[in-house]
Amino acid sequence: MAKALLLAPMSELSHRALRQLIEDFGGADEYFGEMTSAGAVVGGGPFEKYYLDSGPAPERFVYQICGSKQEALCKAAEFLNKRDCLGVDVNMGCAAPAIYKRGAGAAWLKSVDKAGVLAAALRKRVTKRLSVKLRVGETDDFEYLLEFCKRLQDEGVDFITLHGRTISEKFKGACRWDYAEALKKELKIPVAGNGGITNAAEFAFRVENSMCDAVMIGRLAVKEPWIFSVCRNGLQTEGSFLTPLKLQDSALCFLEYLNLYQPPEFHYSRARRFFYYFFANIKWAEYMRNRVNREKTLAQMEKLIIEYFSNEALC
Ligand SMILES: Cc1cc2nc3c(=O)[nH]c(=O)nc-3n(C[C@H](O)[C@H](O)[C@H](O)COP(=O)(O)O)c2cc1C
Repeated sequence: MAKALLLAPMSELSHRALRQLIEDFGGADEYFGEMTSAGAVVGGGPFEKYYLDSGPAPERFVYQICGSKQEALCKAAEFLNKRDCLGVDVNMGCAAPAIYKRGAGAAWLKSVDKAGVLAAALRKRVTKRLSVKLRVGETDDFEYLLEFCKRLQDEGVDFITLHGRTISEKFKGACRWDYAEALKKELKIPVAGNGGITNAAEFAFRVENSMCDAVMIGRLAVKEPWIFSVCRNGLQTEGSFLTPLKLQDSALCFLEYLNLYQPPEFHYSRARRFFYYFFANIKWAEYMRNRVNREKTLAQMEKLIIEYFSNEALC
């Protein structure tokens, strides 16, 4: 079976505008959406319709929910299951203090039983694919991680993604791909590996060599939205996307999609996040990050980008 190439869930990044841009380059096999609070899904937050937008490829889109309360997570999962999507994913990996300290995200990793009871309750409500994305845990204890994942599997979870770092490691240090592979060996359900892939060669290496069923990438796909296509069609194709003209087109397309698919209240924060990663492709990355941060509207950002790329000395 060919390995599936997945876009990771990332707050303020994995929204419809980014997915549309990635689709333009050939697309990922699956798109995990940015985490959405279970409480907001159920309670109908003011911007919830943007989090619920599963376009442009709903059949390859996975909702991700986050929360600390079983009841709210179950209600949200049941609601999302009825929408146009591939499945529902539960965030058991977020280590951000604001999430973790209130019992959500990676806090679920503390108790096999509690997570198992939640998984069983979710299974009763989700008829589509039910998945969990998690980290290694509080420590790098593989036996505990395996026990945790086996319990999820036994309660009916269909798919697991492992970001191979502990909670305290956050995004630093080497990622334990050997853990994802060992999980794959021990579990009957598919496992995706994630974390620490920083360039096309590393992505291709994991796709080629990892024993996992799928390879998920996050930040690299923001920097290089064409990366899924490069991985499928050969690494030598990467260069063709890195010309000033192509980079400018991609940046402008992103702004256009942001305007189309996200509310004005989100434009600044989403653009800022996207360009933080995307501008790593250009010579004057730090300068352009600072400049974008000072612009207030998408129109001003567009003007800035056109000016930059029209100046050959900068490109
Ligand atoms: C800005 C940002 C936001 C993230 N938001 C989420 C999220 O909403 N849900 C989640 O499960 N993981 C989230 N993550 C973690 C990523 O999904 C992924 O596990 C991590 O970035 C490692 O993969 P990478 O090295 O390919 O980026 C986020 C990461 C970043 C950098």
